[in-house]
Amino acid sequence: MKKFAVIGSPISHSLSPSIHTAFGELSGIDLSYKAMEVKESDFTKKVNLLLDGGYEGINVTLPLKKMAYEISNVPSKSSTKSKSANVIWKKKGKIYCENTDGKGLLKDFEDKEISIQSRNLLLIGAGGAALSILPSLIEHKPKEIKIINRTVSKAQELVKKFENEGVKLSAGSLSDPLSFENTAIINSSSAGVLKEVISIPEGVFFNQDWVYDLSYSDSETPFNSLARKSGVKKTYDGFGMLIHQAAISFEIWTGKKPDTKRVTKILRPGS
Ligand code: ATR
Repeated sequence: MKKFAVIGSPISHSLSPSIHTAFGELSGIDLSYKAMEVKESDFTKKVNLLLDGGYEGINVTLPLKKMAYEISNVPSKSSTKSKSANVIWKKKGKIYCENTDGKGLLKDFEDKEISIQSRNLLLIGAGGAALSILPSLIEHKPKEIKIINRTVSKAQELVKKFENEGVKLSAGSLSDPLSFENTAIINSSSAGVLKEVISIPEGVFFNQDWVYDLSYSDSETPFNSLARKSGVKKTYDGFGMLIHQAAISFEIWTGKKPDTKRVTKILRPGS
């Protein structure tokens, strides 16, 4: 039996065990996948224990993604760009890492037949989630990405970090009136997850094609509810991204592409 795990804190809410168990069943791979509560202070010890104890892959979630990048001897290109990783595994004595968040998001865009190429994008939030997806967003050549955040300096830092990658980037605050003609919004702020109200620029939803909230819940996310009530026709949450980032991890570890559509139907009937 192959052994896998997801580590982070808090971890009890994680859907990764259900997703990977379903991937294993549908792919005919006998596996166990456990969720383990791990704090920053225990990270290195636990990772070494797992990897040396026969675990063939580990998913890493908050607040350990930066440490996952730092422990790796062979980081992938996208994890190097964001200096964070959500997947680690060991091969011939070396720890490899990858960040599949951005790729997972772009895969979900494909499923939903939405494209960011040549569009203006408004990215709300400038924390770890924004950092993880920015390299993939930039790779798909939007016209411009405006990053707005409660703490403007963090949006400015992200702009600085990625400004030479061939896509125009700008930074702003949540209270700026928007002069940016955008055609799609991605919400990466954790306000909804924290059950806090996010104040967003007035008129932000006017004339939007679609809105994608990276967070997800059983019911509509507060951000998507606000967008829909403000007239946005297409609102998506991060469930699809979650499935796809997991699928890319699974493929790295097992060499098999799991059936993401069937697993989505199993875990979210009616979608
Ligand atoms: P994550 O890894 O989920 O992105 P994070 O790195 O803590 O978590 O970043 C959370 C993001 O949500 C940040 O952009 C944060 O804004 P600040 O940089 O100003 O802290 C944003 N955020 C969290 N709660 C918010 C709230 N109530 N209103 C607006 N933005 C909020």
